[in-house]
Amino acid sequence: MVDGLNAGHSHVKDISDAQLGAIRQAGRFEATTDGSRLREADAISICVPTPLSKFKDPDVSYIVAATETIKKVLRPGQAIVLESTTYPGTTREIMLPALESTGLKVGKDFFLAFSPERVDPGNPVYQTKNTPKVVGGITPDCLEVVCALYQPAIDRLVPVSTTEAAELVKLLENTFRSVNIGLVNEMAIVCDKLGVDVWEVIDAAATKPFGFMKFSPGPGLGGHCIPIDPHYLAWKMRGLNYKTRFIDLAGELNTEMPAFWVRKVSDALNEGGKPVRGSNVLVLGVAYKKDIEDLRESPALDIIRLLEQGGAKVTYHDPYVPKFEEDGHRFASVPLNAETLAGADCVIVVTDHTNLDYGLIQRHSRVIVDTRNALGRRA
Ligand SMILES: NC(=O)c1ccc[n+]([C@@H]2O[C@H](COP(=O)([O-])OP(=O)(O)OC[C@H]3O[C@@H](n4cnc5c(N)ncnc54)[C@H](O)[C@@H]3O)[C@@H](O)[C@H]2O)c1
Repeated sequence: MVDGLNAGHSHVKDISDAQLGAIRQAGRFEATTDGSRLREADAISICVPTPLSKFKDPDVSYIVAATETIKKVLRPGQAIVLESTTYPGTTREIMLPALESTGLKVGKDFFLAFSPERVDPGNPVYQTKNTPKVVGGITPDCLEVVCALYQPAIDRLVPVSTTEAAELVKLLENTFRSVNIGLVNEMAIVCDKLGVDVWEVIDAAATKPFGFMKFSPGPGLGGHCIPIDPHYLAWKMRGLNYKTRFIDLAGELNTEMPAFWVRKVSDALNEGGKPVRGSNVLVLGVAYKKDIEDLRESPALDIIRLLEQGGAKVTYHDPYVPKFEEDGHRFASVPLNAETLAGADCVIVVTDHTNLDYGLIQRHSRVIVDTRNALGRRA
């Protein structure tokens, strides 16, 4: 990957080879895995993974490892910014003591801040430059230095008073989404039981020009942010003897959605006198959201697993994910054509990629379960 980047090949879909090539040629970008070269940098941004352990506890080992690497090379004048999503207190409690153990003093010799990464992969409107960036410093000078660092590249900076506030901003944003998605997912279950079209209800509610914000139900939460980040806060609060009830409830509701949709597949097959066992089910879209290739935490994987557990023969089509491996089982995307659609006893739309041929899907599928109302929205 490092060689690829240095040769001008971008593995990140939102960054083109042309963009990367231009900054390479201008001598403004170089990739390396050599941690000792961090000494050359005036500013160091940490964007390492922050996953959850099996028991939903934060795994901050990557932040600890990155801090240890920086500790070895830290010199006066450097600015260090943590951008990984994490629980409030990480920058001050984990990074600060490690960096100050070098004898250098924060706010005087080096500058330490937290600034949450807000990138929305595949978003055609909001990219790094026009997405406001929140920054919280350990000291006022840390804040000033890091704001000066970002200022030329970002249209609007949003300074907050502490690193904890900045850490919490990101968790509030993602908890807000998780809770509201949980609410509309519950509304989808309610509407299903009442025989009402949930999307009609939501679209009509969204005509209210104030006091309502539209969220859409779906197959469950995916990606490595919304399903995971709220649990960082839940974990932190457990340590303070407080139970974050909204986070837990939204997590439960969203996690149950794949099973809800698999029941819908089973009901749809049953209508035609077919059991799940032995039926061919074609899953359309396995990425966790439209127009990207990222499979992390995708609810499609749960849907496929549940269908297979029920004895279905599952195939999938995803223009962004030609193949993947899950639980030792290798899957390869089948072509989307009249034959594969008609060959399926049920087609389930899981990811509403923009470039799927919805007309073709509508014309040739025998039974469709549409978790995103992708067909309804294009009708
Ligand atoms: N990708 C997004 O859309 C997005 C959006 C908002 C926030 N975030 C947050 O940003 C953080 C990173 O996410 P990501 O999607 O880029 O993760 P990623 O797994 O795609 O990339 C992380 C990178 O960190 C590198 N790395 C791991 N340990 C390291 C170490 N000790 N020293 C140096 N490099 C190391 C890995 O090689 C990898 O290149 C996470 O906290 C995530 O929650 C990501």
